[in-house]
Amino acid sequence: MNPATDKKWWHDAVVYQIYPRSFMDANGDGIGDLAGIIQRLDYLQRLGVNLIWLSPVFRSPMDDNGYDISDYQDIAPEFGTLAEMEQLIAEAGKRDIRILMDLVVNHTSDEHPWFVEARRSTDNPYRDFYIWRQPAADGGPPNDFRSYFGGSGWQYDEASGEYYFHQFSRKQPDLNWENPRVQAEVHKMMNWWLDKGIGGFRMDVIDLIGKEVDAQIMTNGARLHPLLQEMNKATFGGRDLLTVGETWSATPEIAKLYSDPAREELSMVFQFEHITQTWDEEEGKWRSRPFCLAAFKAITDKWQLGLADSGWNSLFWNNHDLPRAVSKFGDPGRYRVESAKMLATVLHGLKGTPYVYQGEEIGMTNVRFECIDQYRDIESLNLYRERTAAGVPHEQMLAGIHANGRDNARTPMQWSGEANAGFTRGRPWIEVNPNHDQINVAAALDDPDSVFYHYQRLIRLRKAHPVLVYGDYQPLLSEHPRVFAYQRRLGGQRLLVLCNFFAGRASLTLPAGLQQPGEVMISNYAPRDHWRGELELQPYEAFMVLLDEADCSVG
Ligand code: NOJ
Repeated sequence: MNPATDKKWWHDAVVYQIYPRSFMDANGDGIGDLAGIIQRLDYLQRLGVNLIWLSPVFRSPMDDNGYDISDYQDIAPEFGTLAEMEQLIAEAGKRDIRILMDLVVNHTSDEHPWFVEARRSTDNPYRDFYIWRQPAADGGPPNDFRSYFGGSGWQYDEASGEYYFHQFSRKQPDLNWENPRVQAEVHKMMNWWLDKGIGGFRMDVIDLIGKEVDAQIMTNGARLHPLLQEMNKATFGGRDLLTVGETWSATPEIAKLYSDPAREELSMVFQFEHITQTWDEEEGKWRSRPFCLAAFKAITDKWQLGLADSGWNSLFWNNHDLPRAVSKFGDPGRYRVESAKMLATVLHGLKGTPYVYQGEEIGMTNVRFECIDQYRDIESLNLYRERTAAGVPHEQMLAGIHANGRDNARTPMQWSGEANAGFTRGRPWIEVNPNHDQINVAAALDDPDSVFYHYQRLIRLRKAHPVLVYGDYQPLLSEHPRVFAYQRRLGGQRLLVLCNFFAGRASLTLPAGLQQPGEVMISNYAPRDHWRGELELQPYEAFMVLLDEADCSVG
């Protein structure tokens, strides 16, 4: 990439993700809403973020909390009205914050009028908006494809005697992207939102839309990139917006196909290698593997170096589908504050666009409900039912849900130590995390050493120092078992990032070329005045140093 010619406004931006159901409830019905988000815009402005990725707020039966949409051009009544959505776009705009809408077009709800029509008869004009197949010879599903939410990926339709395809719940039938009418309808809907002045789209499981069901090809099908190029041309291309695709199947080579500007597809994609590295190879997320620093280093190097010259990285620790960052990668107990700041420092020092998930900026942690009835997530509940019925012990499934279940991220935002964490004056749709008396926004804003102010500083640093945005990434101390270190270089400038990933102390010797004066830009312990020779890092200690421009050779 040539920073002089290829700069984009979103290169130094920081995105904040809001899961509306759990963010702020203004009307007291126990469910977060748009009016609640509007009330908290000043807080987000204070944090310094530039965009809000808004998880779906569209009309929906809420089988999957809004990722099952029955009307793309209306707002779910529990979240508010279209007028409030327009007000949110305008109010955010006044604070220089743009809104990214969540584009969920791999599937719709089964209550979407297209599917309601499609279901009516095999010759209905909407039938081919979805994927229908005849039963197998034994009357069972056409093939053994499994839904991500448990059970077969095929649902039998009594009326027509055919099966329809769904990769998620049976209330989320997959759209047939081979049908040009589907493409045209989605493009029309996207333009309708773009004309409302949104800042772009986050694209839900976008790597699945080029699927070839009969060939059992789901991700990265041959049709995927042409479809995205057509979408780009027909909608956001030329509008200078941010688009980010959710692509669990991406490698750096594949990510370049999406995000090389010359190909005119997306701005960037989310890749998940650092996440799945902590999952069991056989049982996936329901059985965890311990975090491995060596693997994390290898993955980070691969992505940072892989997209160094074309494409762009998105940087994140968590989202609404994942456990809380500090619980997964740090220490949610004794070193919660230190480790939350360390994780923030590592991530915000890298090259790419950082994403902050609501509550991450105050170091919110996972929740441990003891009873399965306290959970709400369709994925956890379905898989719990399916696997315990197959003989997996309750304790084992609950341990999996505690470690990686999606409700960890979905307990209400902790605004204060008051009842229901200040999230609602009603009864919250899911219980609040009992630790809200300790961990909450009000307490964070009152404490100059809080995780919140660390994030605020990191976001400001990104704006002030182009080396953080455009500097090359170079790994350091690759073999060190406890420390993750790298430098960023731009022109004569060098920025050094050093992070201890563990609760024990860590000793290291910096390469000679880095032992020169500089300015500590941020740290999570008392700022260091030297980083020469032998260093000993405190538990989870992390700091960034801007080295004086002098000798740039690494010894
Ligand atoms: C990915 C979303 O992030 C997740 O929450 C959702 O359940 C699936 N896609 C299906 O839309």
